[in-house]
Amino acid sequence: MKFDMKKAKDVEQKLDDVKGIDEIKDEVKDLIKMIKNSSLYTEKGAKLYKGVLLSGKPGTGKTLLARAIAGEAGVNFIYCSGSNFDEMYVGMGAKRVRELFAEARKNQPCIIFIDEIDSLMSKSRRFGMEHSSSRGTLNQLLAEMDGFEKNENIMVIGATNHEQSLDPAAVRPGRFDKKIHVPLPDVNGRKEILELYLNKIARDDKIDAKKIANMTPGFSGAEIQNLVNTAITQAVHEGRAMADLPAFEYARDRLMMGIERKKLSMTEKDRLNTAIHESGHAVACYFTEGAKKLYKATIVARGGSLGATYMEPDDSDMLSTTKIKCLAQIDTALGGHVAEKLFIGDKKVTTGCSSDLQ
Ligand SMILES: Nc1ncnc2c1ncn2[C@@H]1O[C@H](COP(=O)(O)OP(=O)(O)OP(=O)(O)O)[C@@H](O)[C@H]1O
Ligand SMILES: [Mg+2]
Repeated sequence: MKFDMKKAKDVEQKLDDVKGIDEIKDEVKDLIKMIKNSSLYTEKGAKLYKGVLLSGKPGTGKTLLARAIAGEAGVNFIYCSGSNFDEMYVGMGAKRVRELFAEARKNQPCIIFIDEIDSLMSKSRRFGMEHSSSRGTLNQLLAEMDGFEKNENIMVIGATNHEQSLDPAAVRPGRFDKKIHVPLPDVNGRKEILELYLNKIARDDKIDAKKIANMTPGFSGAEIQNLVNTAITQAVHEGRAMADLPAFEYARDRLMMGIERKKLSMTEKDRLNTAIHESGHAVACYFTEGAKKLYKATIVARGGSLGATYMEPDDSDMLSTTKIKCLAQIDTALGGHVAEKLFIGDKKVTTGCSSDLQ
């Protein structure tokens, strides 16, 4: 098996390419210091990290960060994905793990990056459910890490979106004992990431990164990059010279609400019912204390729904919420059904509310 191996001089990414991760930047810098000056630590009797676990939602920049760590530390970098090990021939996983570490030993100092490491280290894998050969793969990985010699300069970095499903034996001290949670960017982080990608496209001077950052709570770095790319692509499709405000509006609606289904045929009656239903949400949202700010109500079908009502997401909700906000959310969700009851009649209410209840 060939691993994707990059010599230190060919790793292009640097820490500056990863934006909006101020919270964890110090930790990451310490890690780089340890890789670069390992003797500084070992001479004083400190044990080097053998394994580092990057966890966090999809698209938060874990893969990018791992490359940047290697790029910044100036070490060789081997990329592989946890799902690669057993995919082709059952029973080959353990052998591949041995080959991987042999390759790394030949190329010290070296970072082994295992993406999607959960597919290699999930609880189910070690304790039954899966056949014994895949268990063998994990055990081989742990054995390799346990067997690092003092003077070996290899660090394993794993990335996962499912930290809870990891086998406790794999993340115990002495193995993947250094954990770094890569968070979703906050509003300032989003602004930094936006600026990075806005600078790469032709765009209207009126585009304000701060404003777009405010409009996109919950977006990951990858989603922000996608937003910028969707905006410029749409502008070019429509023959405009640069990404302007309408292009960003389009991109945001497209990403938040799905593709417009212009061809979906709806009868006048469906349209009216949908309008009544969405108005119910909108009115409830607008008049309820504690509800989010109303953004847009539409009966343009997108994705799987005939219509939709959107509220401006709120950054403060990501950490915790309050009773009044929860109740307002329930009232808003029920608004569609209530409007149908009032304006269409109890017997003719539609199933449109089924998704509101989820
Ligand atoms: N913090 C960030 N700064 C700059 N660009 C980012 C950031 N986060 C994500 N991106 C962009 O999104 C792309 C995808 O991110 P990446 O693959 O690193 O995410 P990930 O966390 O590994 O996702 P997954 O869990 O799905 O593997 C990056 O290549 C980069 O272009
Ligand atoms: Mg990744």
